[in-house]
Amino acid sequence: MGKARSMVSLFFLVIFLVRAQRSTAESTTEFIFQGFKGNQSDIQLQGDSTITPNGLLRLTDRNSNLAGTAFYHKPVRLVDSNSSVRSFSTSFVFVIIPSSSVNGGFGFTFTLSPTPNRTDAESAQYLGLLNERNDGDPSNHVFAVEFDTVQGFKDDTNRIGNHIGLNFNSLSSEVQEPVAYFNKDGKKEDFQLASGEPIQVFLDYDGPTKTLNLTVYPTRLGAKPRTPMISQHVPKLLQVVQEEMFVGFTAATGRDQSSAHYVMGWSFSSGGDRPVAATLNPSELPPSPPNRAKKRGYSGKVIALIVALTTVILIMFLLSVIFMLYKRRLQQEEILEDWEVDHPHRFRYKDLYAATDGFKENRIVGSGGFGTVYRGSSIKIKSSSSSDQIAVKKITPNSMQGVREFVAEIESLGRLRHKNLVNLQGWCKHGNDLLLVYDYIPNGCLDSLLYSKPRRSGAVLSWNARFQIAKGVAAGLLYLHEEWEKIVIHRDVKPSNVLIDEDMNPRLGDFGLARLHERGSLQHTTVVVGTIGYMAPELTRNGNSSSASDVFAFGVLLLEIVSGRKPTDSGSFFLGDWVMELQVSGEILGAVDPRLGSGFDEEEARLALAVGLLCCHPKMGYRPTMGMVHKYLNRDEDVPEVEEYSDSSRRSRLRSKYGGDVSSFDRVSSSSLTRISSTSFISAR
Ligand SMILES: *[C@@H]1O[C@H](CO)[C@@H](O)[C@H](O)[C@H]1NC(C)=O
Ligand SMILES: *[C@@H]1O[C@H](CO)[C@@H](O)[C@H](O)[C@H]1NC(C)=O
Ligand SMILES: *[C@@H]1O[C@H](CO)[C@@H](O)[C@H](O)[C@H]1NC(C)=O
Ligand SMILES: *[C@@H]1O[C@H](CO)[C@@H](O)[C@H](O)[C@H]1NC(C)=O
Repeated sequence: MGKARSMVSLFFLVIFLVRAQRSTAESTTEFIFQGFKGNQSDIQLQGDSTITPNGLLRLTDRNSNLAGTAFYHKPVRLVDSNSSVRSFSTSFVFVIIPSSSVNGGFGFTFTLSPTPNRTDAESAQYLGLLNERNDGDPSNHVFAVEFDTVQGFKDDTNRIGNHIGLNFNSLSSEVQEPVAYFNKDGKKEDFQLASGEPIQVFLDYDGPTKTLNLTVYPTRLGAKPRTPMISQHVPKLLQVVQEEMFVGFTAATGRDQSSAHYVMGWSFSSGGDRPVAATLNPSELPPSPPNRAKKRGYSGKVIALIVALTTVILIMFLLSVIFMLYKRRLQQEEILEDWEVDHPHRFRYKDLYAATDGFKENRIVGSGGFGTVYRGSSIKIKSSSSSDQIAVKKITPNSMQGVREFVAEIESLGRLRHKNLVNLQGWCKHGNDLLLVYDYIPNGCLDSLLYSKPRRSGAVLSWNARFQIAKGVAAGLLYLHEEWEKIVIHRDVKPSNVLIDEDMNPRLGDFGLARLHERGSLQHTTVVVGTIGYMAPELTRNGNSSSASDVFAFGVLLLEIVSGRKPTDSGSFFLGDWVMELQVSGEILGAVDPRLGSGFDEEEARLALAVGLLCCHPKMGYRPTMGMVHKYLNRDEDVPEVEEYSDSSRRSRLRSKYGGDVSSFDRVSSSSLTRISSTSFISAR
């Protein structure tokens, strides 16, 4: 009977014990706080922690040496009757706002604590969890996941800032990892805890396997990373955890290092086979606290730097644009010297630049003979007269010294008007270049008409055309020598300077231009310019250009037109001598271009050859004037008999001087300069 009673009392005792246990901690705990508004009574706050009016759980603000804790008001049953730690799962979103980029601190913990009253806990590195005396004491019975933002608070341990640790009764972490998450590709991505942005944490403990999984990532990523950052076997938890534990948070700031620590939402679940904490809905969480650190800290500096850099880059960009515009203007606009102003024939460089499309290569219609010639459209130039096309000759004289005098001449040359001259419209000086603007003559020069192989017409230049051209050139030269107000010496009469217009009318160009090149760099010296074969013998002796030397060149040109032969062929050939020999032997018509066949006027040919020979006389006194030449060609006067002369003296002179190869000289023609002392050219009549 006594045995039965004792059995019954034991039964009731067991019932009582079970009930007593149930009364303090329920077998399962489950809660979710989407923000903490209206839940003040469910959270036990201590120290400096508070729930803000809009529902954020703030553990500390950014003042120094604070410590705050917050625990769920009811204990959680964490050890089963068979002495194993029960599975639990928790999730929360936190924000840490540092007072400045370098001065954030110290951090916060998620804690399992036997009591929600951590009144003895200290601030700074003790994280509001423990103090100097009880740090590491096994009787603490605390387990904490620390979110530490301060570097190396203990010199003996190898701690780094911005890390997460698993702590058992101590603030020295047993397991420690830099803060990171695994991205979709399984790569570790580091990030900052104290960034001011919401960060999501999942902490799952599996009782049967004693495994603790921890996943941390910025909330903005949205999806939870598949792989936890820490997956740790933690059998030690059993020694720490008591049957009933309070779950919650602790945080602290230091003297110089402080951050505001916030928890925005929190869910928890324990008991059962595999508890999973309820998912926090980001849209239902209270707005994250304003990140004022941005203005004061690191980000502020970055913004200032970016603004400064942007400003500098903008200014540099503007400067370079201004510089480029300035350079373009310099390129287009001349800086005028005093003497250049007020010349009626001066063109603006800008206009010539526009007219020739910026001196484009496809505008080049010829080169050599002192410069490059560009075709331009005169529509873009107001001051341009007559034809709608112009030719712009770009010359780079070897010295600018003579340009001023030359321009003075051009000013008067610009007024020369004759149907057998290429009209000089004007000039422009730009940098080291002199630009001369002429009427554009479309058919090219006599040189190409006489010699170029596949001629456009397919036929040789007819006799009629040749004779007209000869007369035209004579008329042009006559105008220069005798009909204008001053004597103008052409100085470079030759086929390539005779342009042919639409009506097969010859036009003499480049008059006076050689003058520009006669000024040498040596003082008191003048360079004689001319083309070998067309230079009168006296030129090589005294360098004196005169109308007589122009007449000589015209004579050569005349013989050339009739015969279709270059003035010098090989070392020993000279056109004048050759024609003279034919004249002496009575076969003067043998000099006529054989390609003409019988298609020429015999009388005219004899006339032209006779005049040519007369003009080519080596002694200048024997040459006729252009006025006479004009009369001969127009049969107003009879041509006197030309006495036999030979200019072998010139040939031998040329040979000795140029190594016998006169023809090679012809090729370099107008640019071969012979330096001879001389003076004077255009003289008033
Ligand atoms: C928090 O407070 C709200 C509103 O008072 C209530 O509906 C909710 O159940 C509370 N949550 C918890 C976990 O106590
Ligand atoms: C302890 O008991 C719980 C049920 O109360 C069970 O789920 C768990 O597997 C047990 N653990 C061990 C180690 O036997
Ligand atoms: C915590 O301490 C307060 C007073 O400091 C006390 O009222 C409360 O009962 C304590 N709570 C626990 C769970 O010890
Ligand atoms: C912990 O993580 C590992 C590896 O991802 C996984 O296999 C295991 O199921 C996880 N355990 C819990 C309780 O989430």
